[in-house]
This record gives sequence, structure tokens and C-alpha cells, in this order.
Amino acid sequence: MYLLKSILCATALPSILLAAPNVPFTTSKSRIVDSTGANFTYVGVNWPGAADVMIPEGLQYSSISSIVSKIKSLNMNVVRLTFAIEMVDDIKDKGGDVTVQNAFTKALGSSKGPTAYQAVIKNNPQFNASTTRLQVFDAVAAELSKQGIYVHLDNHMSKGAWCCGGGDGNAWFGDTYFNTANWKRGLEFMADHSPPKTKSWTSIVSIGLRNELRKPSSAGSSLAYNWSTWYDQVTAAANLVNAANPDILIFLSGLDYDTTLSPIPGAGDLGSGKKFQKSSFKYADKLVLELHNYQNSATSCDSMKSSLNNGGFKALDASAVNQMPVVLTEFGFNQADSSYNGVYAKCLRTIIPQWKAGWTVWVLSGSYYIRSGTQDFEETWGLLNHDWSGWRSTSAINALKDMISASLAA
Ligand SMILES: *[C@@H]1O[C@H](CO)[C@@H](O)[C@H](O)[C@H]1NC(C)=O
Ligand SMILES: *[C@@H]1O[C@H](CO)[C@@H](O)[C@H](O)[C@H]1NC(C)=O
Ligand SMILES: *[C@@H]1O[C@H](CO)[C@@H](O)[C@H](O)[C@H]1NC(C)=O
Repeated sequence: MYLLKSILCATALPSILLAAPNVPFTTSKSRIVDSTGANFTYVGVNWPGAADVMIPEGLQYSSISSIVSKIKSLNMNVVRLTFAIEMVDDIKDKGGDVTVQNAFTKALGSSKGPTAYQAVIKNNPQFNASTTRLQVFDAVAAELSKQGIYVHLDNHMSKGAWCCGGGDGNAWFGDTYFNTANWKRGLEFMADHSPPKTKSWTSIVSIGLRNELRKPSSAGSSLAYNWSTWYDQVTAAANLVNAANPDILIFLSGLDYDTTLSPIPGAGDLGSGKKFQKSSFKYADKLVLELHNYQNSATSCDSMKSSLNNGGFKALDASAVNQMPVVLTEFGFNQADSSYNGVYAKCLRTIIPQWKAGWTVWVLSGSYYIRSGTQDFEETWGLLNHDWSGWRSTSAINALKDMISASLAA
């Protein structure tokens, strides 16, 4: 009986994504479609790697494979992996990538940095003193691919740090740290850092051009904060990314912390005579919209629905001029209390699967190496507990599992 069961399991395996993922993805109307022609709904989690150390979080507490196994155990199918442009700037302009060892010392100081680094090596003995930050990203991508999870890269910040505020110098094109040429080069570099060139990224499917564009609190040398600037910068970056890697989907995010893409579904006036026409892109079937929602104090699901629709989810409708997939790449709430049972969490858990829209919840951590100056920062919004050894809340995870299965069934 036991033997028979394992034979049956083994023959059932090809249907599960393993070493040969169904890439590349394309889009068709409101859906993302894998290389077999099946609709694919993004169901996943954010794994941050764009803060001060600029390597994926959690490795001082856990091995990469154990973290990926936890994600896999939820049946999630994608990870939104965030990176900072500063990592690419170092590679291109500063004589090469920084080693993990030096990155920890630089970010955490000469007393705590080496301790954190030693803990990373202890949990992940495949790394050593010459391992660089990008090699850690490679290892994370390889393990995700190995365990059948797709990779969505997200450019979260220019300068590696906790995101986001209007005054952090990373808010808008031309802001203190947001050099637009370096940004485009960094996107191109990461888009190109994939198969066949880099074998570990076999399950990469998409890239988000920029997280949470927002109005800079001091204009400085920033370009004007308007849709016309957005259009110019985003289309230029998308063209470069598509040229560097024509296979991956390109996620376009909106203004006001990515809460609005309002003129996009209806091809509204963006100013200066510009309009976003999906059909004018050579790679129209590679474009996806992404939005964030943090209406955590909402008291009405109906009003959340209408703000999500007006923010850009209208693009899912057949009546939209630019009908496109829309993915909710960030939403989240405190995992340490009963928020999972509140209006906000329940509403998203219901409507996002109903709308057949994809999602990646904020956030996997646990804790951060450092956040806004505090080392070993406790993240109460993390699905995982402080030391990444288990889920923070069984009730919250069970509720999330309902959303996962509803989306996978949609
Ligand atoms: C994909 O989804 C669309 C709309 O949601 C549906 O019309 C289509 O039949 C689906 N395709 C497949 C192959 O199931
Ligand atoms: C050090 O780690 C890198 C990758 O992280 C690997 O390519 C290299 O072979 C390792 N070196 C040694 C001596 O183990
Ligand atoms: C938007 O910003 C651009 C510069 O980035 C400027 O040329 C244009 O006039 C602005 N448009 C509006 C409507 O303010």
C-alpha cells in the first residue's frame, strides 16, 4: 500500500512544477498565462532584500532551503524578491559586488556585523568569505526554482534602506538617491541576469520596475511629480528591460505609493498629450499592472472595492481600453493580533480571488537584519516569527491558506 502510494505520487509529479518551470509567461486580456497556455494566478509573498545589507533577509536565522520549504508548504507559487539599485551601482562603478561579509560590517558595524555574518554562514555553509550579495540572490533564486516557485524581481529602492517615505531620497525620478540613469541600468542588469546567462534563475517570470513611486517631500532635483513624467520614465525603462530580456513580464506600478494607476485602464490623458495605449507596445503581451493596498482601518468592503477599482483594478474588465492583468503586490497587516479577522483582511481575502487577480502579501520576515537603524528589528507583520523558525500566528496563517486556495482555484 505504502509502495503503491509512492508510485502513484511519483507518476503524479510531472503536473507539479519542479525543475522545468512553465516559462516564459505572457498575458491575455486580464490573465497571466504560462508557457503551457494555462492561466496562472500569482499567489505569493514578499521576501525583502533591498534594505541596508542588500541581501535577502532571514539568513542569520535560517537556511535558504528551509525558508523556501516554508513558503512551499503554504502552496504559494511565487516570491516577490526585492533588490536595491545600489547593489548594481557597486558592481558597475565601485569595482565589483560587495562580499556578504563586508556588507554586514558596513550595514551593522564592526562589532555586530561579523556576528550576523557568522550566523549566516553557519546556517548557509555553502557561502564563504568571497560570496557576494548577488551570489546570495542567485542562491535564493536557484532554491526557489528547485522547489517549484516562480521569481518576481522587484526594484524596491535605489539606495539600500527600509522603504518608503517622501523624505527618504528614493521617492521619485531624480530624487537625492534616485538617479534615473542608474535605475535604468540596474533594471537592465537584473533583467539580463537570467538564463541562459545565469542558470540559477530558471523560474524568473517578471520584474517590477519600481516600488511605490511617491511625491518627494522636498522637490530638490526631482522631475515634476505627474503622469507625464511617469509615462516617459516608465516606458523608457520598460523598453530597456524588454530588450535585455524579452521573456519576462514587466510590472508597472503607479503613483502615491502605488495606490493609483487611475488613468491607465481607460487610456486617460496623462498630460502633455500623452496616453498609455497598451496596443502601442511591441511587447503588449508582457505588461502587467501592480497596485498596493493598505486601507487597514477600512470599515466597509464596498468602499475598498470601489477604491481598488478606481485605483486601477478596472483594467481587469473587458470594457477597459487597456485590459490587463492587475496584481496586488503588497497588502498586509499585523500578524500578532486579530487583524486577520478584520474588515480589511477579510475583504481582500474575498475579493482578490473572486477577481482572479494575483497577489503577494507583505511580508515574509520575521525580522530584519536592520530597519531604520534598529538591528534585528522585530516585524510584527511578518508571516514568520522573529527567528524565522515557524509561523507567527496559526490563526492568521490558516486565514491566509483560505485565500491561497481560493486564488489557486480561481
Ligand atoms: C483563462 O481565464 C479566462 C478568463 O478568466 C477564461 O476565459 C479562459 O478559458 C481560461 N483559460 C484556460 C486555458 O483555462
Ligand atoms: C565560496 O562561495 C561561492 C558562492 O557563494 C562559491 O562559488 C565558491 O566555490 C565558494 N568557495 C569555496 C572555497 O568554497
Ligand atoms: C509634468 O512634468 C514634466 C517634466 O517632467 C513637465 O514638462 C510637464 O509640463 C508636467 N506636466 C504637467 C501637466 O504638469
